[in-house]
Amino acid sequence: MAYTDGMLKDGALKGRTVLITGGGTGLGRSMSKYFLQLGANVVITSRKLDVLQKTAEELMAETGGQVLAVQCDVRKYAEVENTLAEAIKKFGSVDTLINNAAGNFISPTERLSNRAFDTVVDIVLRGSYNCTLALGKYWIKEKQINKTVLNIVTTYAWTGSAYVVPSACAKAGVLAMTRSLAVEWAKYGIRTNAIAPGPFPTKGAWDRLVPGEFREKMDLKNRVPLKRAGEHQELCNLAGYLISDFSAYVNGEVVTIDGGEWLQGAGEFNMFEAVSPEQWDAIEIMVRGAKSE
Ligand code: HXC
Ligand code: NAP
Repeated sequence: MAYTDGMLKDGALKGRTVLITGGGTGLGRSMSKYFLQLGANVVITSRKLDVLQKTAEELMAETGGQVLAVQCDVRKYAEVENTLAEAIKKFGSVDTLINNAAGNFISPTERLSNRAFDTVVDIVLRGSYNCTLALGKYWIKEKQINKTVLNIVTTYAWTGSAYVVPSACAKAGVLAMTRSLAVEWAKYGIRTNAIAPGPFPTKGAWDRLVPGEFREKMDLKNRVPLKRAGEHQELCNLAGYLISDFSAYVNGEVVTIDGGEWLQGAGEFNMFEAVSPEQWDAIEIMVRGAKSE
């Protein structure tokens, strides 16, 4: 067994339909593939129909599963409603929504136009609540139960982060929505959870957040206590668990999967990680020799 292996039992998602926003690329594509391998039907949406159709064809060929590609800008509620209608027409219902679509880029905040700020917040926060509202209203009206919403946030949803301020504001909002609806909609049989990934290399994120020479300077090995980036399968395993019946009692949780990255940045004395054994000998002598005044 390795962490790059699929974790769940064969058929763990059999008969379930999963709608994944931003499912044509990156982590959304990886999750789609794993859910298909576990027996789910998958609906992938984003703005670029050509990308979605190519992904859908590749994933169906690789897994033998069923993928529906629907063009949808999550900022537009009518397009979200259309996606839901298309999904119901094809698969009968939708059991899980994964709010994975995002927009983001690195920039000092004072360089952003108000439109740039709006763009990121609209994709991440408005997009997530548009999809959640459309699906939730449908499930509640139809009295469908055993449904799940999984929101992909990030660790700076609670720490904040310089240079990605619109994304941090929006992800914080999505996290608040996760915890709020976990309570409000539990009575309807809807569970709501989130995943907060640390660094998982994807073209979409890396090109916009760590471009050019900054990629090497990011120094992942030393930012993450486990000294590596995440493997997509690790995130897929967690997501698969959180949308499956195996997590039936998990509701309102945000699960961090970052190799310990954000805590390393947070702990007051974590810089002592760089101290050698010899330096620890010297430190111990100094500390033991400390006298009270
Ligand atoms: C300053 C910028 C800019 C930049 C765009 N803008 N890029 N401003 N610096 N680098 C401004 C534009 O000038 C414009 O404002 C406004 O933002 C909207 O830009 P458009 O190009 O018209 O928007 P759109 O075509 O909708 O594209 C949205 C996008 C783009 C967010 C700008 O990057 C995109 O399509 N992203 C989708 C995929 C993505 O971002 N993936 C990464 C997710 S990674 P004006 O005023 O000129 O009109 C992620 C990781 C989190 O979330 C955690 C990592 C650890
Ligand atoms: P990605 O490949 O760029 O995925 C983002 C997706 O969102 C794209 O498929 C994009 O497709 C779609 N999208 C953007 N705007 C949209 C809109 N208005 N309507 C519908 N879809 C839209 O990046 P990723 O790294 O896989 O990110 C996936 C998720 O993981 C995001 O929520 C991100 O914040 C989160 N995350 C990633 C990392 C990481 O290290 N990679 C870390 C923490 C959190 P179109 O361009 O075709 O619309």
